[in-house]
Formats: sequence, C-alpha cells, structure tokens
Amino acid sequence: MHITILGGGGFLGRKLAARLATEGHALTLFDMVAPVVPFAARCLGGDVTDPVAMTAAIPPETDVVVHLAAVVSAQAEADYDLGMRVNLHGTLAVIEAARRCVKPPRVVFTSSVASFSAPVGTVMAEDARQMPLNSYGAEKAAAELLLQDASRRGMVDAVNLRLPTVIVRPGRPNKAASSFVSSVLREPLLGLETTLPVTPDFALWVASPRVVVDWLRHAAVMDTAPLGTDRGINPPGLTVTVAEMLAALTPAERALVRAEPDASVQAIVGTWPARFVDARARRLGFAPQVSLPAILAAFREDDLAATRAERGL
Ligand SMILES: NC(=O)c1ccc[n+]([C@@H]2O[C@H](COP(=O)([O-])OP(=O)(O)OC[C@H]3O[C@@H](n4cnc5c(N)ncnc54)[C@H](O)[C@@H]3O)[C@@H](O)[C@H]2O)c1
Repeated sequence: MHITILGGGGFLGRKLAARLATEGHALTLFDMVAPVVPFAARCLGGDVTDPVAMTAAIPPETDVVVHLAAVVSAQAEADYDLGMRVNLHGTLAVIEAARRCVKPPRVVFTSSVASFSAPVGTVMAEDARQMPLNSYGAEKAAAELLLQDASRRGMVDAVNLRLPTVIVRPGRPNKAASSFVSSVLREPLLGLETTLPVTPDFALWVASPRVVVDWLRHAAVMDTAPLGTDRGINPPGLTVTVAEMLAALTPAERALVRAEPDASVQAIVGTWPARFVDARARRLGFAPQVSLPAILAAFREDDLAATRAERGL
C-alpha cells in the first residue's frame, strides 16, 4: 500500500513508520523537517497547511493517510492562532489533497480525549457529546466533524481515533498539558526528580505507544462499513489513578516525585474524562490496553535505553 504519515517525524509517527516499514509498504513521511529514518521511505519537509506541500505528500496513488501532524494541547491553548492554523486549517488542507486521489484514501486522524469534558468520575457513553474545554480539543472535534462529512461525501474514508494520553513518552517533557503523566514515570525510571501537578486520586485514561501503534495500523486497514456515518472511535484505553502509577514505582523511584500543584495544568487535564465505554471499539477489532505493568514494560523494552542515551544519562 501507498501510505503517507503526516507528522511522521513525531513521537507516534516514528513508531508507526518503523512498524509499517517492516511490512513492505511504500511510505511517505512528512513533517516540518524531513524525517531521517533508517529504512526506505520518501521523506519530505513542509507545512501541513501548505497546499503545494500537501499535494506532494499525498500523491494520487495514496491508499492511506495517517494524519498525526498537530500542535499539542498546552501549546494550542497558549497560541490560539497557531493551534487553529495547524490543527484545523491543516486538516482542511489534508482533505483537499486527499480528495484528488485516484480513489478516496483511508484517512486515519488522531483526535483526542481532550475533545471531551466531564465532571470527575463520569463514565463516557459510546455516543457521548464532545464538549471540549480547551482550544486543542475544539480544533480536534471540528476536524473530526469535517473528516466525517468528507467521508459521507465519498471524498475520503476517515477513521477518527480519540486517543487517550499516550504514556510513557520517551525523551524529555514537552508542551502537552498531559506531559506530567509520562514524566511521573519516566523521570524516576531515569533516576531523575520530577514534580506532580495534580493530586494522587487524579484519574487518567492512558495507553502505551505500542498499543496506539496497533490501533493506528488497525484503523488503516479495517473494514469501515460497520462504522456507517459515525467515524469517531473511543479506543479501549486503560483508566489509572496517579496513586496507581506511583505504586508501580519502587520506593526509591517514588521518592523522586515531588508534589507541586499547578492550577494551569489542572485546569486543562482536570476536565478530561478518564472512563469510557469501549464496547464498539472492541467489536471493531481494537485490542485493549491491558494493564499498567504492560505500559511500563513497553517503555523499558522499547524506549528506556534510547532515552538515557538521548539525554546523556
Ligand atoms: N501523545 C499523546 O498523548 C496524544 C494523545 C491524544 C492525541 N494525540 C495526537 O496524536 C498525534 C501525534 O501525537 P504525538 O504525540 O506523536 O505528537 P508529536 O508532537 O510528537 O508529533 C506531531 C508532529 O507534527 C508535526 N507538526 C506540527 N506542526 C506541523 C505543521 N504545521 N506541519 C507539519 N508538521 C507539523 C511536529 O513537528 C511533530 O513531529 C497528534 O495529532 C496528537 O494531537 C496524541
């Protein structure tokens, strides 16, 4: 298959590309700077909002576009114009390029838990309404709606995956409001101190990058007929509390985590629901995130050594 990954140089894009490369697809990786990868791929640099760049990234023979290019949550909240440009207008540029393909390509779009809001403890129904309380979530929800309409019109064949917070993110803390969710595990595992901006009873909806790559791959090839007009999927993530995450660390690692409440982080992530009914996603073949130990094992096996090396530890 001809597969284009937009945001192919990012955290999930690199992992998905490495997985797809083992399956012998013709890959195009697109990011702000052309990704450098150790396998065969057409690597392009450019802006997702640029129609010329999108025409190059999504040639007519494209079968699948995985659209990961985005400005993340806290950055989109801090810079309204940037978030709107990339997260909304970027997606419109993707639709424009995709509709010129020989046949409507599968577009796998990564929406987010941040497109929802709910009082603490709410279990989100399959058809829960998206009521984002941050601009990033609003941009994601709007993009979903436009991709769904483009699917109804036969321009694309979209699957909108509302991803949980993906942990453990390798490397360093980033500008996502949820950055602490990875830091609270990653930094102690690296022997480094970190801060906790929320209380231990705080619950989160999470999944490992391994499982998310499985979901993205499944979304790229699944039969979309059972979706009908509803292209949004709440995949089977895992609900965990911060206390459970801390309990998964050794006492010495736990001692490296210092409570430091942060109202701005709490204001964003505090509205994200942590519990979802996911029967539809399971029926559609999305494998569940099984446990917190599985998430930690995935980090230890896939990313710990590279993160140590990258950070000179
Ligand atoms: N990681 C998570 O916890 C999480 C959770 C929910 C949803 N998502 C979504 O999944 C997708 C991938 O997330 P990630 O964690 O890999 O993020 P990431 O920031 O690592 O990757 C996103 C990539 O998009 C690129 N990009 C940004 N603006 C661009 C532009 N104007 N033109 C071209 N490329 C641009 C960035 O350079 C980056 O490489 C994003 O859409 C994100 O919103 C992620």
